Amino acid sequence: MQDLNEDTLTQAVLNAVSKAGDPRVRQISQALVRHLHAFIKEIEPTEEEWDQAIAFLTKTGQMCSDTRQEFILFSDVLGVSMLVDMINHRLPGDATETTVFGPFYVEPPVFALGDNIRGHLEGTPLRIEGRVLDDNGGPIRGATVDLWHSDKDGFYDLQLLDASPGLAGRGRLTTDADGAFHCWTARPAPYPIPNDGPVGKMLEAQGRHPFRPEHVHFMIAAPGFRTLVTHIFAADGDYLDSDVVFGVKNSLIEPYGVDPQSDALTLQRDFVLARC
Ligand code: BEZ
Ligand code: FE
Repeated sequence: MQDLNEDTLTQAVLNAVSKAGDPRVRQISQALVRHLHAFIKEIEPTEEEWDQAIAFLTKTGQMCSDTRQEFILFSDVLGVSMLVDMINHRLPGDATETTVFGPFYVEPPVFALGDNIRGHLEGTPLRIEGRVLDDNGGPIRGATVDLWHSDKDGFYDLQLLDASPGLAGRGRLTTDADGAFHCWTARPAPYPIPNDGPVGKMLEAQGRHPFRPEHVHFMIAAPGFRTLVTHIFAADGDYLDSDVVFGVKNSLIEPYGVDPQSDALTLQRDFVLARC
């Protein structure tokens, strides 16, 4: 019987998990134990603080439902979602950079090129247009372009389903022979991520705001290419330097233009897909 103490406990736990038959399970378990024990040794929590930590995780789980994923928010605001994204999308050359998926995607309704996807959203008309290209600059015909964004007050249709007539500000387009797509919608806005749960409380305790800069989400897929999940951020907006989920990349920021015929705003942006 080994008499464990602060100096020998970590190794004893490492020995226990090293029996895992699956090498990946073993690697992950060992790293988890090493980093978790180092964290606890660094912060030396009181028992009350440890109780609070357990209560935080419990509330985070209890907050989750079909429409609310508090653990993803937890991962997002600690930069973990972006780190996983960066590790998994070390893309070649000129391929468009990726960013977080976010919790507000559902398979969107299909629209024809040039349609208006705003649904019941109000606000400034916005024309979105661009091309989907391969790494040689050639057009990708038949690419599926899913886009989704908030309303002018920073809410997604999914957050207002009880009070509104359904999906809006989201659509699926298919690129033409030039790889081009375009549609009309209404300008989105910066918004706070859902902050009425434990993650919101944590942000407050950390002295942080809960906002994301104004953006439009894109998910672009075509056979033979890696599916691209990204956003385009509005260049003139707030929070570009302090996105609560660390999702902004300089290459994804675009200024709005103005359509001379209608005075509507325009967002022009091409996307380059990496090959599989
Ligand atoms: C979003 O952009 O929709 C989003 C991303 C991460 C957390 C919350 C919202
Ligand atoms: Fe978003």
